[in-house]
Amino acid sequence: MADLQGTIVTWLGHATVHIATAKGTSILIDPFIEQNPKFPKNYKLPAKIDLILATHGHGDHIADLLEVAKKHDSTVVGMVELIGWAQSKGVKNAIGMNLGGSWKHDDVTVSMVEARHSSGISDGNQTVYGGEPIGFVVTIQNGPVLYHAGDTCAFLDMQLIRDLYHPQLAMLPIGDHYTMGPKGAVIAAKYLGVKSVLPIHYGTFPVLTGTPEELSQLLDGSGIEVKAISPGESLR
Ligand code: NI
Ligand code: MN
Repeated sequence: MADLQGTIVTWLGHATVHIATAKGTSILIDPFIEQNPKFPKNYKLPAKIDLILATHGHGDHIADLLEVAKKHDSTVVGMVELIGWAQSKGVKNAIGMNLGGSWKHDDVTVSMVEARHSSGISDGNQTVYGGEPIGFVVTIQNGPVLYHAGDTCAFLDMQLIRDLYHPQLAMLPIGDHYTMGPKGAVIAAKYLGVKSVLPIHYGTFPVLTGTPEELSQLLDGSGIEVKAISPGESLR
């Protein structure tokens, strides 16, 4: 439907997304599971999770990072400081990166791009510096280019993400309050030059008031499609 050339993108509520490539690489972004009110009740994570991509240190993005990484023997990819913290907590396989960098794993190239947000890690009664918050571009060989924005406002330099990577599908937060809302997401989608948007990071908590309906209305006539699906459903 979104013409993802055999890649399957499954939304797991909030900013949590699973990507399975046609070749079988399994990627989990921002694991927020146990305390995620929108995590699909009957969904079971695949046994094989090759990569976990973490956009920033907030609990609603990494609450289950350590446990899932250890249980599934996954490689965690994130900003160097966030990765240093994960390693200090016992994560064995980890790749620390920084803005502008790309790293290849089998049929997948992961690129780290800007996000405008914050990234403190709540650790006990301390807040640990997690480095800059980021977004990810996932370029799949013989497949689509996908962009997960993490938590961010809309920003002009999203045009650089378009020029560098040419994503076709953007996973954009639309809930407002902690990130952009639908109005910002319209501009983001246009700057990114994407064909479609998978709205995320809305409806999880009462303050996240942005809706896919509002986004669809605002994008009407733009040629950009809003792929509003329910948690547990997939684009393919
Ligand atoms: Ni956040
Ligand atoms: Mn968040």
